[in-house]
Amino acid sequence: MPIAVLVSGRGSNLGAILDAVEKKYITKGEVRVVVSNKPSVGALEIAKKHHVPTVVLDDRGLPKMDAEYDKKTIATLEAHGVNSTDGLVALAGYFRILSPHFVEKYHHRIMNVHPALLPSFPGLEAQKRALEHGVKVAGATVHFVANEVDAGPIILQAHVPVRDNDTAETLSERILRQEHRIYPEAVRLFTEGKLKIHGKRVIFT
Ligand code: GRF
Repeated sequence: MPIAVLVSGRGSNLGAILDAVEKKYITKGEVRVVVSNKPSVGALEIAKKHHVPTVVLDDRGLPKMDAEYDKKTIATLEAHGVNSTDGLVALAGYFRILSPHFVEKYHHRIMNVHPALLPSFPGLEAQKRALEHGVKVAGATVHFVANEVDAGPIILQAHVPVRDNDTAETLSERILRQEHRIYPEAVRLFTEGKLKIHGKRVIFT
């Protein structure tokens, strides 16, 4: 299955997916292109190290959601063989909101990873807000993308304890280790055709 990864920054989840392909944990999927909305980010270096084509679609000055911008992204995905009929789009630290056209075209073929146990703490700075809220258990979620931000059918979740001396940084690191475990797992399950969606629920087959 052709995969595109959309990124905006550091790229550690991209790295985890590429490692999983290289180590043959993911055998039925291939990352065909990495698309970044920011030039010179770490994710682009990681893609290059793994010999994956990269495309920068600079979004400077554009709104966070922009249907015209997304049309360029879709054209880029299609040019690399990541089609809405048989491809997968993995958002990995992608700080843009997809337009309804994009989400509907790639219906249930777009995944995202979020550093919280959704539906708690959607949006930015989820780890900091979880800590401030005083939760004792935090975690990570991989989900299909729906039109609402950080909503959509949940594929996998992993929990971590919150420790008394945690800062947003230490909690984020603990959660990130789980993201790196469950994101490749979700990609593997999807590329092997093992995920079925019933309403909001994802069933493993
Ligand atoms: C991760 O914490 C992810 O959950 C969130 O953005 C961060 C991206 O990190 N959506 P990286 O770029 O994958 O290192």
